[in-house]
Amino acid sequence: MTEIPQHLLDRSKARRALLTGGGGDAAAAPAADAGTEVVKAEAAAPVAAAPAAAVVEAAPEPPKPVPHFMKASNERTRIPVWAMPIVAALPLWGLVYAGTLKPPVQERVAFAEGRELYEEHCASCHGAEGGGGTGYAFSGGAVVQTFPNRYEQMLHIARGSEPIAGEAYGDPASADARVSGARGVMPAFGPNGTTNLTQVELELIVVHERHEFGGEEYGDPEAGEADEAYLEHLEELYEEGVEEEIDLAELQRLSDEAQAAVEGIPYPSQNELDVAGFNAIEE
Ligand code: HEC
Repeated sequence: MTEIPQHLLDRSKARRALLTGGGGDAAAAPAADAGTEVVKAEAAAPVAAAPAAAVVEAAPEPPKPVPHFMKASNERTRIPVWAMPIVAALPLWGLVYAGTLKPPVQERVAFAEGRELYEEHCASCHGAEGGGGTGYAFSGGAVVQTFPNRYEQMLHIARGSEPIAGEAYGDPASADARVSGARGVMPAFGPNGTTNLTQVELELIVVHERHEFGGEEYGDPEAGEADEAYLEHLEELYEEGVEEEIDLAELQRLSDEAQAAVEGIPYPSQNELDVAGFNAIEE
C-alpha cells in the first residue's frame, strides 16, 4: 500500500459516490472534472480539516467574488418608488402601534368605581352600556335630558318609582317627559330598598351614568363643565371608606332646592348649579 491515509481514501470515495450517484451516464463526464477538482481541494483540505484550532484560524475567508446574477440584483433598487411613502411612514406607524400597546391611562377613581357599582346593581335592567332593557336607556345623553342636574336623579334611584307612581318626574320641559311607573317598577336603592347603597355609592353611580352616558365633563364650571372639586371630594370620601346611609328626606330637600337654585331656570343643569355655587352635598 502507498502512503495515502485511509481516512482520505474514504472521504474521496464518499465524495465520488456523491457526485456520480444518481447522475446517470450524462453526468459522468462533468463528474470526472469535478472529481479532479475535489482531489485538488482535498490536497489543500488537510490544513483546514486538521486540528480544531486551525479551523478557527482559517475561518475568516476572503470575500467571495460576487456572481454576475447577484450583481444585477444588488444594483437594482429593492423598494419600488411607489412604496417609498409607505416605507417612510413605517416609523410613524410603529409609534402609533406602540402607543396602542401601552396600558390605558388610569381612569379617575370616581368613574372606575361608579362603573363597577353600576355594573353590579343596575346593568341587568339598564344595560352595561346604558342602552336600556327592562328600564330606560341612559346613553346618548338621555339621562341628562331627564335629569339636567344630579339631585333629583339621586333621589329617584334611592326612592324608586313606586312611592311616586303615576306622578311626573324629571325635567317637564324634556321632549320625553316621564311619568313614574309608565314602564314598570324601578326598585328603591335607599333605606327602604332591598339593596341599600351608601350615599357615596349612590353618588358614584350617578357620576358614572352622567359622565359615561350623558357626556358630562368635570372641570372648570366657567368653561361649561361640572365642578371638578365635587369629584375630588367624592373620591376622598370613597377612599376614607365613609359609609354614610342615604337620607331620603335630605335628598328630597336637595332636589327641591336645586330646582329653585337658579333664578329664571326652573330645572337648572348641573353646570348652571355649579356656576351658581350650589354644591350643598359637599358641605
Ligand atoms: C330590576 C330592574 C332594575 C334595576 C336592577 C334597576 N332599575 Fe332603574 N329602572 C327600572 C325600570 C323598570 C324603570 C322604569 C320605571 C318607571 O316606569 O317608572 C327604571 C327607571 C330608572 C330611572 C329613571 C330613568 C328615566 O329616564 O326616567 C333611573 C334614573 C334608574 N332607573 C336608575 C337606576 C340605577 C342607578 C340602578 C342601579 C343602582 C337601577 N336603576 C337599577 C328597572 C331597574
